[in-house]
Amino acid sequence: MTSDQAPEIDWALLRTRAVEMMERAYAPYSGYPVGAAALVDDGRLVGGCNVENAAYGVTLCAECGLVSDLVAGGGGRLVAFSCCDANGAQIMPCGRCRQLLWEHGGAALLVDTPAGVLPMTEVLPQAFGAEDLSTVGPRGAALEDDPA
Ligand code: THU
Repeated sequence: MTSDQAPEIDWALLRTRAVEMMERAYAPYSGYPVGAAALVDDGRLVGGCNVENAAYGVTLCAECGLVSDLVAGGGGRLVAFSCCDANGAQIMPCGRCRQLLWEHGGAALLVDTPAGVLPMTEVLPQAFGAEDLSTVGPRGAALEDDPA
């Protein structure tokens, strides 16, 4: 792979990594371990597992760990993503995590769902993203209405 080419997606490898991540989960409260793995546009693999807390609401989803791994490891864009339950079966990312994935993969990110591989545009239709923030000025005025 050269730097201007998209890395090839090995879904079997991603699923294996997701299972490995799931096996490291800390999920004593729900008993529902989750593992996540993704391919980055520079060819690296990143991963994460859920990390629960006695204060239940503080729980970190597997995708939170994955995004942290992505950013701490040098950033980049997510190209392909898979997450699984304790049986190794693909699960849908929760709503909040779909937003996390949108931020770091955008419309082109491919997601391994129970219904097959889908683009993020189908996983999170009409997503809110960074470009929405730039459509209004600092006081909420639409930029095109700004006389300045
Ligand atoms: N969980 C994830 O890690 N990712 C998801 O997308 C769905 C839910 C975790 C959070 C919690 O530790 C457990 O699954 C049960 O909700």
